[in-house]
Amino acid sequence: MNLLALSGSLRDGSFNIMALRALQTLAPEGVALVLFEGTGTLPHFNLDVEMHALPDMVADFRRQVAEAAGLVIACPEYAHSIPGTFKNALDWLVGMPDFPGKPVMLINTAPRASHAQAALREVLATMSARLVPEACVTVDLREPDAPERLQAGLAAFLRACAPSAAQAPAPAPLG
Ligand SMILES: Cc1cc2nc3c(=O)[nH]c(=O)nc-3n(C[C@H](O)[C@H](O)[C@H](O)COP(=O)(O)O)c2cc1C
Repeated sequence: MNLLALSGSLRDGSFNIMALRALQTLAPEGVALVLFEGTGTLPHFNLDVEMHALPDMVADFRRQVAEAAGLVIACPEYAHSIPGTFKNALDWLVGMPDFPGKPVMLINTAPRASHAQAALREVLATMSARLVPEACVTVDLREPDAPERLQAGLAAFLRACAPSAAQAPAPAPLG
């Protein structure tokens, strides 16, 4: 199974990139978690450009998103919201026909920062992403249980991304 990892931070030494890299090492056999490295070089979103000639970089970004069974997003808080570069990347996905229903796992590496997570959830819900609550984890990378928490979130996410999970019928009512 292929998953695509997106960091909201571009910084060398970013805790969010560190969390995604850690998750790569924790992924079970048969799961490839690829870190998308182009977020910072995507052009500024422009509806005219999207309508007339999608830039190659954006087309490649959309292709990688389309081919992924799910997205793993680790995003910091800037001024109580999502970093502008990351919102720009998400804006390029708003008009992507096969984005709705895309499973998403969120990693929050700053337990005290709640505004960006709330903003991110609002944006993703508006885009009709399928946020997987049991796979959304808050981790302090300095704590010894961080790998365990990341791994548990990933395991829940993989269950939610399995083809059968999307179409599974609702359980019959008891009694
Ligand atoms: C421009 C800027 C604005 C920030 N605003 C907030 C904020 O509003 N709330 C907060 O908790 N942290 C804020 N921070 C701290 C970052 O969220 C924190 O340093 C985080 O670790 C950055 O993610 P990274 O390590 O992946 O780069 C801000 C940092 C920067 C550079």
